Amino acid sequence: MAQTALRTHRGGSLTASHIGTPVRLGGWIHRRRDLGGIVFLDLRDRDGLVQLSCDPAWTPAEVLARAAGLGAETVVLVEGTVERRQEPGRDPAMTSREVEVRVTALQVVGPAATPAIPVARREGEEPAAEDLRLTHRILDLRRPELQANFILRHRLLQRARRVLSDLGFLEIETPILTKPTPEGARDYLVPSRVHPGECYALPQSPQIYKQLLMVAGFDRYFQLARCFRDEDLRADRQPEFTQIDLEASFVAADDVMAVVEQVLVALWAEAGESVEGAFPRLRWREAMERYGIDKPDLRFGLEIQDLSAIVGGEAAPFLRDALASGGRLRAILAPGLAVLSRRELDDLGERAKAAGAGGLLWARRTDAGWEGQGVKAIGVAGLDTVSAEPGSLLVAVVGPDTVTHAAMHAVRSALGARPEVPRLRRHAFAWVVDFPLFEQEPETGAWIFTHHPFTAPHPDDRDRLASDPGSCRAQHYDAVYNGNELGSGSIRITDPALQAEVFGFLGIGPEEQRTRFGFLLDALATGAPPHGGFALGFDRIAMLLAGASSLRDVIAFPKTTQARALLEGAPVPVSAAELAALHLTTRSEGGPDVR
Ligand code: AMO
Repeated sequence: MAQTALRTHRGGSLTASHIGTPVRLGGWIHRRRDLGGIVFLDLRDRDGLVQLSCDPAWTPAEVLARAAGLGAETVVLVEGTVERRQEPGRDPAMTSREVEVRVTALQVVGPAATPAIPVARREGEEPAAEDLRLTHRILDLRRPELQANFILRHRLLQRARRVLSDLGFLEIETPILTKPTPEGARDYLVPSRVHPGECYALPQSPQIYKQLLMVAGFDRYFQLARCFRDEDLRADRQPEFTQIDLEASFVAADDVMAVVEQVLVALWAEAGESVEGAFPRLRWREAMERYGIDKPDLRFGLEIQDLSAIVGGEAAPFLRDALASGGRLRAILAPGLAVLSRRELDDLGERAKAAGAGGLLWARRTDAGWEGQGVKAIGVAGLDTVSAEPGSLLVAVVGPDTVTHAAMHAVRSALGARPEVPRLRRHAFAWVVDFPLFEQEPETGAWIFTHHPFTAPHPDDRDRLASDPGSCRAQHYDAVYNGNELGSGSIRITDPALQAEVFGFLGIGPEEQRTRFGFLLDALATGAPPHGGFALGFDRIAMLLAGASSLRDVIAFPKTTQARALLEGAPVPVSAAELAALHLTTRSEGGPDVR
């Protein structure tokens, strides 16, 4: 209900049905226009904008004078009557375009300093620079676009809650001051005052707790969980973020995926998009082979092909050498893209190089045959075995898979954004399954977990855990959408002996297992039901459904890519006394200890 002791309505929600109604409104002055004795004000509140019209015909002189002096962002209370506007409003944020309020009284209740960044923007005007927007976040948040994002975010959260609750999931909160939960990032640590030298960790996810809840018999759990990860930030990563986290007992992977599909279909519906469940499934290996990445954008084709077999004796020596040392020639054939200019091809080449490739080979198919720098390198005879329509472009990279995966993904993404490439669908959901359980750290060759150490191995691969770890698949599944990872989950290890074996394999010896994970191993030994779950990155979902390009547009008080909060100024230096209370000392880089 908008009605309070101070107002009767939100101005942004007035419509033609209110014509003739006396109203009292409160809001911010969005814009002021003075037209020779008449003053028009756009009043803004959460529901949008409404025009206030101050005219000597109905506005007392002293009110008109006050209106004429109002600065942007001043908060006012006004009284007047709703009438039809002479001319409908043109501002798209103007929710009440047909009506205006003819002002009879106006009071300033929240004077405003000149805003540091504009809230009202002219058509086509770009928002202020990001750092400025984050420093003056309150003004930024007043923008109707951001208000709409947070209204959507709220609706999505409520919908997720409702869907999961209706499916029998119990919302249970897990601690924020916890023991480290490995998810592959660094922990944020919180030193304990009462236990010198000891720290809590903020949860990277509620992973272990949700498993314990299954062992405790809660059967189905969910939480809109805050997670904290000290990792390199990008537009789609924040140090603290929200997951729609869930776990269920006596389930197989298919059961979990069916629940997640229901949640996603409902969230898209809440944002006005109709999508269907039963998402297609791709094996991880297949995703890497066809798209070079484990979160492929399936809105368009442009699949990667292995053209190693067409490389013959006439190919350039560097190409033959690369193949001889285990590399492959991988290519994309793009119908209609022979139109790319040299500059555009150079740009693609830069992308391939940035992803680690030595360079990009390209050839255009014309009516007369193949032309371009790739022809000589690959060889005409080989290229002639590739069937391609005239007007097609072939782009290729040679090297080991680690390089060609990344380079071809980068090239494919750039090509997929071209208007000439047909869109097969607007919403491309998919499951990626059969991930490897472990991967090798490139520098050390040590085995590390691909997701987290609680993921169950594929039953068919269980016996190869020790003999051939690289070939073991995980019972893990990722949900991807238009090239974004929306979330991931798995069936968990419930046999304490297997869990200990996996820890051991990851270099966590028996003693460390006891100190770090003894409580989990003991819990599993008290009678653990088979269980599995999932976590959706909620901020990412809100960002995609809001049509935003950064998580910062759907998180009220986000951090910069340097993990700073610019509005309030965090992190902050702490005083020596505070450090002492926490039994801490700091050492500045290369300098003496500071106590
Ligand atoms: P995972 O680590 O894959 O899985 O996280 C799940 C999803 O959370 C989102 N996400 C992030 N969003 C914003 N900023 C970040 N820094 C960030 N990191 C991750 C992503 C990701 O897909 N416990 C497991 C889930 C499980 O096994 O049930 C987990 O946390 O969208």
